[in-house]
Amino acid sequence: MGEWKCPCNQVHPENVPRTFKNPAKVVVKCIQLEILNKDQSILEAGSGCLRNSFFLQEEGFDVSVVELKETVDRFKEEYDLFEKKGGKVYVHNFPLKEFDVVISTFTIETICPPKKRVEFLRNIYGCLKKDGLLISSMRGVKDVLTAGEKGKGLKCPLPGNGYLTPLKTFIRPFHVRQITVFLEQNGFRVERIFQKSEKIEPRIIELLARKIGDR
Ligand SMILES: C[S@@+](CC[C@H](N)C(=O)[O-])C[C@H]1O[C@@H](n2cnc3c(N)ncnc32)[C@H](O)[C@@H]1O
Repeated sequence: MGEWKCPCNQVHPENVPRTFKNPAKVVVKCIQLEILNKDQSILEAGSGCLRNSFFLQEEGFDVSVVELKETVDRFKEEYDLFEKKGGKVYVHNFPLKEFDVVISTFTIETICPPKKRVEFLRNIYGCLKKDGLLISSMRGVKDVLTAGEKGKGLKCPLPGNGYLTPLKTFIRPFHVRQITVFLEQNGFRVERIFQKSEKIEPRIIELLARKIGDR
């Protein structure tokens, strides 16, 4: 490893979001299953190029977003349009408002260092109403080449941490059990994993978790 230091301060989160056209599958599933409905107030945390929130807005849902300034600047045109269509954009700081549902897709596993991941989840917890719902998806270990330490990513030496990619993004893929425990430790109860078997590690983990207690 030589002089190599922890990559956390080398990560550029604004490099992470890609310009997908379609919403994440878990969002579509939650509409089809009527888990999402138009009476709910929804916050998307880490909205990237806005693929989910544009879709929800077009479908008539009440949706706000919270994103890092660097990402909002990178997708300025999209964020301006989203606001023009009535969407509320919170930059960097989570809103001091409570929502029925928070959606966060492919975000938690890109946040480095671990304490920031916890802070992100606690912020989500804090802006959910009592019994509020978190809808999330994340990359599993089977989806990430570097997961077995065979790929090109640079392993971060922090225990339990992930990889710095050549694009200066960070990835820490999850096992179902790991994300379940992580959510439980931070005030959520996992109510549903959408993949057929929790025992076979899915490439993509899609889940519903409920805020429990009131901290
Ligand atoms: C891989 S992208 C996913 C974007 C979008 N959810 C999607 O599925 O296309 C992860 C996003 O999380 C955002 N992000 C990282 N840390 C954040 C934080 N503390 N608060 C809000 N957004 C954050 C990044 O800026 C990035 O846009």
